[in-house]
Amino acid sequence: MANIPRLDATASPHEVSAALGESGGVIVEGLLAPDALARLNAELDPLLDGVAPDRDFLNPALAWFFGKRTRHLTAVTTHSRVFVDELLCHPTLLGVCDEILLPSCARYQLNLAHVLDRGPGADAQLLHRDQLVWVHVPRPHPELQVASVVALVDFTEENGATRLVPGSHRWPLERAPEESEAVAAEMPAGSAVIYLGSTIHGGGANRSADVRRRGMHLSYVLGWLRTEENHYLATPPEVARTLPRAAQELLGYAAHDALAAGGGYLGALDLRDPAELLAEGKL
Ligand SMILES: [Fe+2]
Repeated sequence: MANIPRLDATASPHEVSAALGESGGVIVEGLLAPDALARLNAELDPLLDGVAPDRDFLNPALAWFFGKRTRHLTAVTTHSRVFVDELLCHPTLLGVCDEILLPSCARYQLNLAHVLDRGPGADAQLLHRDQLVWVHVPRPHPELQVASVVALVDFTEENGATRLVPGSHRWPLERAPEESEAVAAEMPAGSAVIYLGSTIHGGGANRSADVRRRGMHLSYVLGWLRTEENHYLATPPEVARTLPRAAQELLGYAAHDALAAGGGYLGALDLRDPAELLAEGKL
């Protein structure tokens, strides 16, 4: 059985990208330093404690996909400044996006940041490819998405570590994986498994007695596609204006200007770049 390659936080974005191209996924240990991990979890603890056990979803399919044993925290950019400062603009993640996404867009953007706190008894997720949310893009197409799951506690096979099918980014769409082809991304807290939008993966079953598997899905997408989370509503201008410019840009507040590629612009406001309007105090 193929393994998921493993690097540490000193690896260059090029090394991480090379491993991604080879295997479809790679574990980067120590992406978050222990201090940053502790501050992030301290910020998340009360927020997750305040999550109601029952919640509504977009549709029954999404409710089924996530199951009933998971606490969700969305709009993380609004709720967690530690996330903004330590993860959203992490140089390794953005360096990988530079290599994989930037050739196909004028700028990439945050797709989704979502904490999934999966309790004991949570079932394994359906194995899937994240980029099928953009199923209407004609194939073949370049990689649309760079995704990751950041381990905010130790991820073990028993507590439901993300499972990934190495090499599946090269498979034809119709090939379904055997259960035995999925490898658990076991890793210490602060690590991340980074994978391509085309790589088959899914959360594992939490078979532990009392361990909540807290992780964060964090993904980036080409700047000309619609994002899974509606950032303009999740992080409205009154919040966005308090964030660093790089974060504003990743949230989609910057125009996507493809003039240099012979194209036009997207995401303007009053024929201006919203990020410039934020900088001028006009938004
Ligand atoms: Fe996924």
